[in-house]
Amino acid sequence: MSPRGPTGEQPRRRRFFFALWPEPSVRQALVRATRSAVRRCGGRPTSAENLHLTVAFLGAITNGELAEARRVPPIPTPPFSLRLDTLGFWNRSRILWLGASGAPAELMALERMLWSGLGEAGFEREPRAFLPHLTLARQGRPVTASIKAVEWPVTDLALVESVPGRGSSTYHRREQWRLNG
Ligand code: 2AM
Repeated sequence: MSPRGPTGEQPRRRRFFFALWPEPSVRQALVRATRSAVRRCGGRPTSAENLHLTVAFLGAITNGELAEARRVPPIPTPPFSLRLDTLGFWNRSRILWLGASGAPAELMALERMLWSGLGEAGFEREPRAFLPHLTLARQGRPVTASIKAVEWPVTDLALVESVPGRGSSTYHRREQWRLNG
């Protein structure tokens, strides 16, 4: 629990997460590869400019916590190639997602090392396993489809703010670090 301000009010909180953010060419390839499946699932698609892969979700944090989180990177892991080739569907949240049949060890190490630093800074990781994915659509129906694999050369880690809007949130990259292991 964060301390209250001098007048007893709750400090202002904003939503942040660390993510991999595709360059425009990768984003276009992702849209092309998944367009038909997204259409068939009938759900609310993630807009092309919002496609991302969350590495560490921080939730609603204070400015003080944000300053702590920003001090954690850079993470000493090398750039890596992520091959996105698998569609999945979560029944509970009705999310259609894109993932990797073989998640690279560098991505798993990035998540582990990032959370290790965040843990030292006082953040707590949810106990569930890290399932790397890009949310393609929400409130859809399951679809079975094979897709053309997308190769994503991952070079950076971004800190992103999720700003609630009417209906959906907009995402803003606030800071970015090169992967350099
Ligand atoms: P999702 O797409 O699977 O919902 C912004 O909300 C990003 O943070 C999205 O990638 C979202 O994943 C992720 N996110 C939201 N809540 C989360 C949570 N409790 N744990 C992990 N990731 C979360």
